[in-house]
Amino acid sequence: MEIDLVVVGSGFFGLTVAERMANEHGARVLVVERRSHIGGNAYSEDEPTTGIEVHRYGAHLFHTSNERVWEYATRFTAFTSYVHRVYTTYRGEVFPMPINLGTINQFFRSAYGPDAARALVREQAAELDAVLAGREPANLDEKGVSLIGRPLYEAFIRDYTAKQWQTDPTELPASVISRLPVRYTYDNRYFSDTHEGLPVDGYTAWLERLADHPRIEVRLDTDFFDTSQPVNKDAVVGNVPVVYTGPVDRYFDYAEGELGWRTLDFEEEVLEVGDFQGTPVMNYADLAVPYTRIHEFRHFHPERDYPTDRTVIMREFSRFAERGDEPYYPVNTPADRARLLAYRGLTEREHDERGVHFGGRLGTYQYLDMHMAIGSALSMVDNKLAPRVRV
Ligand code: FDA
Repeated sequence: MEIDLVVVGSGFFGLTVAERMANEHGARVLVVERRSHIGGNAYSEDEPTTGIEVHRYGAHLFHTSNERVWEYATRFTAFTSYVHRVYTTYRGEVFPMPINLGTINQFFRSAYGPDAARALVREQAAELDAVLAGREPANLDEKGVSLIGRPLYEAFIRDYTAKQWQTDPTELPASVISRLPVRYTYDNRYFSDTHEGLPVDGYTAWLERLADHPRIEVRLDTDFFDTSQPVNKDAVVGNVPVVYTGPVDRYFDYAEGELGWRTLDFEEEVLEVGDFQGTPVMNYADLAVPYTRIHEFRHFHPERDYPTDRTVIMREFSRFAERGDEPYYPVNTPADRARLLAYRGLTEREHDERGVHFGGRLGTYQYLDMHMAIGSALSMVDNKLAPRVRV
């Protein structure tokens, strides 16, 4: 087919752009995707022996307070009433997360009310006041103690963060955490958005419906930089408008250096028990446990008819990404930010001179929740693409 727009990447950003441009604006859209499936990191599939839906690239919980995104999302899927809650195991004991009055009272073996707990945390957080003497915390360790006090910080934050970064927190910049919210109620809902839930028939069904339009063609196993493919960067850019949602440094052949990412390794196991941990996500706060958390996928969909004698769990390990690893979370060191600034100059020129639009989490080097990726794709369509892409 004749093409009005090429979209590189079939994650939520790319597919939202493709759907809107095809459906609302009459464009013929070609989506190229490097992987052998659509959906980017939100992709999920049923584990074949149990039928339990597994989120391939880490657990994905949908939540938003953006009414436009919610209205748009619900055109393509219904949502369950799932509400996310997380627990953490520390020294053989399980505590509710994020840190709340329940966590504090269990940890200090006490029965504080909100005001007494607040006063206690404030007093413990003042420990470093004399040492800091007005200066900013020099590293994550100092920052953590100054935010919530040493006992809670050392139990629930220090070693978990060390495992996430594979770095001692005294070596990590204070900017890794900007705040550590403590709730002085027993509310342990993880998210506080207006809307929350999981797609009733799974993420992939939702993503497939986004791509299901006669004016959208999706080519899987197609790397935009592979010049042996008919649709590649050299052949397309400058001739057809492009929305690029891959890594921004890769697009420019790392001309300004590589941007740093953390990646995750997943270890999946099918167990011969009906229920392994009684909850979807269990964090492990101790340094001696090498993984950061275990997901048990059956608990994301208690409404489904899953087998009662088997379950699927996934252990999650965290480390710095090397080239070739899946980039998951931007590291964002000062050097990364300087490189990003240089890339922004290049993306602006590429946009103005050759009609390439950079979007999504990889194209802009920022962590985006799904609702943010969808929201920014809708804005790009309204503000940049619809007025410019001629059909
Ligand atoms: P995404 O990465 O999904 O898609 C980009 C696509 O581009 C990929 O399919 C990739 O293969 C393709 N691509 C890259 N280079 C290419 C090339 N050269 N040629 C062709 N294709 C190329 N959000 C949330 O709301 N709730 C949650 O619970 C979570 N949980 C979560 C856990 C983990 C571990 C991560 C890393 C992320 C989350 N997220 C999340 C965030 C969520 O994954 C994110 O919002 C979406 O992936 C963003 O969609 P994008 O389309 O921007 O990128």
